[in-house]
Amino acid sequence: TQRTPLIAGNWKMNLDHLQAIAFVQKLAWNLKDAKHDFAAVEVAVFPPFTDLRSVQTLVSADKLPVVFGAQDVSAHDSGAFTGEISGAFLAQLECTYVLIGHSERRTLHGENDEEVAAKVTAAVKHGLVPIICVGETAADLELHGPSAVPVAQLRTALSGIDSAADIVVAYEPVWAIGSGQAATPEQAEQVAAQLRLVLSETLGQDVADKTRILYGGSVKGVNIAGYMREPNVDGALVGGASLDIDEFSSIVRFQK
Ligand code: G3H
Repeated sequence: TQRTPLIAGNWKMNLDHLQAIAFVQKLAWNLKDAKHDFAAVEVAVFPPFTDLRSVQTLVSADKLPVVFGAQDVSAHDSGAFTGEISGAFLAQLECTYVLIGHSERRTLHGENDEEVAAKVTAAVKHGLVPIICVGETAADLELHGPSAVPVAQLRTALSGIDSAADIVVAYEPVWAIGSGQAATPEQAEQVAAQLRLVLSETLGQDVADKTRILYGGSVKGVNIAGYMREPNVDGALVGGASLDIDEFSSIVRFQK
């Protein structure tokens, strides 16, 4: 396919300023050591907001083979929104991506599908590529099966954008996040295929063909290859294992 695999490390609320710099330097060193082909696998990190400037400085000064993004964005451009961060600011910091609708934002901060859609629209407006996170809880799985909730979440998330927008979708079953209980490659593929159908129905076949769909939930060096062999899974959104430089490097070096 023409879809470049994307391995994305979501640090969540981990790694302070100095740890972030050390991590990115080591990651770049490992990638160079492995003669990493950036055209073959794109590597992205998602530091806390407060680390973004340092990561940007490091990546641009040393032309490191890493891109980066933020873990959230405001639906608004500017104004009286205490504590929020505009997509315009993230674009100025040379963020490529922004995570939107991560399950921790949905459960801990009550973000609903409409807010997620507004954030996706804002991200695209500011030239950021949204990584739209969807996924069912264990209760959803029991009640509705694996695809119904992520499919509905994605449909709403796409409601404010058109086919010109560059987007990424991340399927993260909530029951697999941080639990060590990863979905099987077959389960990930089944839902990813349904999500690609949603892309095709809402934004057209071209968008469906070129949009990357990631799997997230207890991805590690030992299980990444299984996901990457699936035709509709184009990468991973990694949480816990993205904080360990050796583990993350081994995920990035996955072999099909
Ligand atoms: O954004 C990442 C996900 O929440 C996955 O986290 O790899 O620790 O399960 P995890």
